[in-house]
Amino acid sequence: MSSQARNPRFQKGQTESSKAFTASVSFDWRLLPYDIQGSKAHSAMLVHQGVISAEEGELIAQGLDQILARWQAGELEPRLDWEDVHMNVEGQLFAQIGPIAGKLHTARSRNDQVSLDMHLYMRAVGWDLTAKTLGLLSALIHRAENDFDVIVPGYTHLQAAQPVLLAHHWMAYVAMLERDLSRIDDWRERLDASPLGAGALAGTPYPTEPEYTAQLLGFSGVYHNSLDAVSDRDFLLEFLSWSAILGMHLSRLGEELVLWSSQEFGYVHMDDAYATGSSMMPQKKNPDVAELMRGKAGRLNGNLMTLLTVMKGLPLAYDSDMQEDKEAVFDTVDTLSGLLPVAQGMLETLSVDRRRIGARLGQDYTRATDIADLLVKQGMPFRQAYHQVGGVVGRLESTGRSFDAISDQELAEYLPGISRSDIEALSPDQLVKARGQSLGTAPDAVTGQIRAAKSRVHQRMEALASRP
Ligand code: ARG
Repeated sequence: MSSQARNPRFQKGQTESSKAFTASVSFDWRLLPYDIQGSKAHSAMLVHQGVISAEEGELIAQGLDQILARWQAGELEPRLDWEDVHMNVEGQLFAQIGPIAGKLHTARSRNDQVSLDMHLYMRAVGWDLTAKTLGLLSALIHRAENDFDVIVPGYTHLQAAQPVLLAHHWMAYVAMLERDLSRIDDWRERLDASPLGAGALAGTPYPTEPEYTAQLLGFSGVYHNSLDAVSDRDFLLEFLSWSAILGMHLSRLGEELVLWSSQEFGYVHMDDAYATGSSMMPQKKNPDVAELMRGKAGRLNGNLMTLLTVMKGLPLAYDSDMQEDKEAVFDTVDTLSGLLPVAQGMLETLSVDRRRIGARLGQDYTRATDIADLLVKQGMPFRQAYHQVGGVVGRLESTGRSFDAISDQELAEYLPGISRSDIEALSPDQLVKARGQSLGTAPDAVTGQIRAAKSRVHQRMEALASRP
């Protein structure tokens, strides 16, 4: 009797459409290497506990290795009538080694098995996405170093506010990505528990050793409660939420680059390798990568909502609804795996238009706060100084002039005691230099931010290289 023979409890098999509807093998096939890894550990534990013989364990392990080799060579086809990746592996093992294959499922359910597979998969993916996030973060730090001489208008409400170093702007994204990395580290700690041994829901009456398999698989511990072990998907929800937040950061960066590469701004130019043309308008160079960086946030958010909604209201323990976790998680993994390196490449090759930015800076009123501060230095209360400068900006703006074109009469009327040269001295360089707190935009401060971030990145790179 093959391992996949119909359970005599059923008088007939599923209809084709019901089978196709309930099967997950079309999308859980990528779990196969992790399924094999988990099964080998489970089989070793069964041997260790004397539940199966050493010879049987050896046969099972060899059979599993061969299945993995065929999967890696692309020679293994998923079979829909075997429902999911777990039953496919069992079916293949039976074809390979005969009825001994049926011993592998002793003291194990697909419920603890699938959770284990997802833990193992997420552990690998988590490190990969950590490495990719670090790559993007390093590119941003590199940009900050290369663009250190550039001052841009900083914005609030997307209205030119005060000048900042472009490096300072890039380093703000470094700060966001560093938080993302610290969040994934935190997640990794909670991911570090093996659900194996929970069986279907209650544990198993066999002398299984969950700690033994956990250790073989490199987990530091075992779930505390079997019902929770098979029904917990927090580790996936946290990952999806991590991804959604990271995706939101990338989306903001994408939007800024779309904006900055427009003709209206012209601060940056995308390398041709990261832009596309229009099918109709020959002059167009579209910032597709940046646009999609912005747009992918939609599916990342959607995937989080999918799983939150699937899990809401589910009774303990395992329910088939939970099979819906995979496509959401895999889509998020694939989206970020593609997005992060492309975003990195785009940033590395971006060129900054110093001329356009320079021309733009002289024309705006981003010195206004600092001019008010000059009045404050002479003893005027800030709020009054604020109104004086607001008045002169309104006047200048209505006649299309910058501060440099202020008349003597306006000076005397609005800015008593301030000379033309006082105003001229408030160059973007000076304004930036004046903001010297550790978190400010002065060159010394930003140099400090860069130095500190580089040393943290260095530590992260080392942790990544020596990961378990
Ligand atoms: N394919 C299932 C999933 O992805 C595996 C667990 C199925 N367990 C069950 N009792 N039907 O969730």
